[in-house]
Amino acid sequence: MSGVPDARAPGSATAAADPSAIVRLSTAYWDSQVLLTANRLRLFDALAGGARSADEVAAELALDARSTALLLRACAGLGLLELEGERFRNAPAAAAFLVSASPAYMGNVIRYSDQLYGAWGQLEQSLRSGRPALPAESYLGDDQARTRGFVLAMHERALGIARALVAVLDLSGRRALLDVGGGPGTYSVLLTERHPGLRAEVLELPGVAAVARELVAAAGAAERVQLRDGDYHVADFGHGKDVVLMSGMFHRESAADCRGLVERAVACLEPGGLLVVSDVFTDPGGAQPVFAAMFGLNMMLTAPAGGVHADADVQGWMRACGLADIRTVPLPPPMPHRVVLGVKP
Ligand SMILES: C[S@@+](CC[C@H](N)C(=O)[O-])C[C@H]1O[C@@H](n2cnc3c(N)ncnc32)[C@H](O)[C@@H]1O
Repeated sequence: MSGVPDARAPGSATAAADPSAIVRLSTAYWDSQVLLTANRLRLFDALAGGARSADEVAAELALDARSTALLLRACAGLGLLELEGERFRNAPAAAAFLVSASPAYMGNVIRYSDQLYGAWGQLEQSLRSGRPALPAESYLGDDQARTRGFVLAMHERALGIARALVAVLDLSGRRALLDVGGGPGTYSVLLTERHPGLRAEVLELPGVAAVARELVAAAGAAERVQLRDGDYHVADFGHGKDVVLMSGMFHRESAADCRGLVERAVACLEPGGLLVVSDVFTDPGGAQPVFAAMFGLNMMLTAPAGGVHADADVQGWMRACGLADIRTVPLPPPMPHRVVLGVKP
């Protein structure tokens, strides 16, 4: 007898518990790395023309044939590919979102996740130091290639999210939109397209704004969407705006800074003006939805004050600034975003 109780003995506390979720979590990064690597290798482009054998794919991508067969089978197991005898083809979702010629291509978004894989490996160090694992400046201007990749990723993601936002946001009759931290300018492009009388000013850091200018021009929207270089912590928000959009920026900022940004947004709005704050938010308590809780860690790893807030807190900051008609509108699934709206009386 060792004297150590057998935790699996009938009647012990652990006998009734199921470890399968824990086992699954311990290897969940396998799945992510299969997708990230396949996307990096442009595997789905290699299959865009139809089904191919593992040997053919290996030859095209200059990979080892035996290893490629294992990767392709794993992709098929995960539902990214379909198996047809000895040949593999893109599953419908892969064909729609992972082939670079597709209008709904998400490869840059996934490449950005790929860049963060190393940062997640430094979670413990960030927890000890309280500092991000990836310096935010690197993708916000300092490193041109990385900045460009980040802006293209934001653009691809916004093409999905902004379309959903445009559908739930009625800006009829509004004329002047300030898009704070507007990134690639995609929201402003789509909102001004939907509301022809609307003109937008996008306030952005210079390195990001430079790439955004190209995207706005390529969309044929340079007349109605202006990029202004500036730091939203200190830049003058101007006056006479009838809409202020703050999308995807509160997750980079502390609660005190978010509250300050709400105050400055309200100050630049005309009476009747609308403040729109869109982001990934949690329920009160911060643990749910689980994607939002995980997103908070992701932001902690990539921005000095990064995290996640509850939309109830944003409502509170709006209330403290005297806004009326405050409400949260969730965007339709699968988007995890919620939009908090308030009107200046
Ligand atoms: C997650 S992105 C959101 C972009 C866009 N609003 C969207 O929803 O797609 C956050 C944006 O805030 C910008 N940003 C971060 N800090 C900033 C600052 N101090 N001043 C201006 N823009 C800033 C970043 O460059 C980035 O484009």
